[in-house]
Amino acid sequence: MAADIAEQPDVLARLLDHGRDDIAAVAARVAQHRPRSIVFTARGTSDHAALYAAYLTEIRLGLPSSLASPSVVTVYDSRPDWSDSLVIAVSQSGGSPDLAQVVAAARASGALTLAVTNNPESRLAAEAELHLDIRAGHERAVAATKTYTAELLTLLLLIEGIRTGTGRIDPGEAAALDKLPELAHDVLDGSGADELAGRYRFADRFVTTGRGYAYPTARETALKLMETSYLPSLAFSGADLLHGPLAMTDPGVPVLAVVGSGPGGHAMWNVLTQLGRQRADVVVVGAADLPDQTARLRTPAVDERLAAVLDILPLQQLALHLAIERGENPDAPRGLKKITETM
Ligand code: F6R
Repeated sequence: MAADIAEQPDVLARLLDHGRDDIAAVAARVAQHRPRSIVFTARGTSDHAALYAAYLTEIRLGLPSSLASPSVVTVYDSRPDWSDSLVIAVSQSGGSPDLAQVVAAARASGALTLAVTNNPESRLAAEAELHLDIRAGHERAVAATKTYTAELLTLLLLIEGIRTGTGRIDPGEAAALDKLPELAHDVLDGSGADELAGRYRFADRFVTTGRGYAYPTARETALKLMETSYLPSLAFSGADLLHGPLAMTDPGVPVLAVVGSGPGGHAMWNVLTQLGRQRADVVVVGAADLPDQTARLRTPAVDERLAAVLDILPLQQLALHLAIERGENPDAPRGLKKITETM
């Protein structure tokens, strides 16, 4: 897991250097097709990448977006009409049969279908009309890390390419993206996540929270903590946290709040105030401009869309170090396999 995490700057650079043309070609094809909505289907970590892309779809393309539940097709044997949609399945392995079935059903209903995977030979890649390879290389650990950030960047390049209509992203946008690998390297180099892991060695649960593009980061962090340290971890959008779960926060429950420097981050300020009233033990992750005494995992101030790729990095490190501190083996979480096959 440590090696997979450390490889991420190279994975991002590889995608930017070698993946851009393929992504632009698919984005141009989608732009030409003019779907009325984008539907995503995915599981686990890939579902969090899909959620991020759903925010991008609605905010950047102005198209409605949703996450399809595979059980509609596989358990209830229903066939929704996806004919005017683009249906995107996101899966590092491309190996779960339910996702392949959703794509097959969507294709049969007339949808344009796309698989985003780390395995071009997978059944899912074959089932979809279009395929994008996230080029993350072999992921050794069960817990997905580098495939997550590669999925995020692939989906960002795709949606920004659809936005321009040509498949190619805006040059200003491209310049910002080109800086990501180096920024990722800097974040991983001195995040302070190892120290924080020592502090939370005896925690018995976590709450994670964020809004907008940061909400998938909160969800993914909770998943990483659960599967590597076996710690119950609940993720909420900052808004949902205030609608009830806030009541369970107190000085004994660590809260990891992802707070960037853009609109989603600003929407978290009120949440931080309320958490302060609860005397919750808050660690702020991200670039937000907050008083110095706030406990932090700091990341660079970039556009929130790009921040999603950086903010998860120290949180992956936190999950890794916490598992080690607690005497667990983060490379082999109990009861899990690399490819989970669900129906
Ligand atoms: C979490 C993890 C799993 C997978 C999920 C989906 O670290 O690895 O949650 O993300 O089983 O797998 P894929 O992406 O292969 O469909």
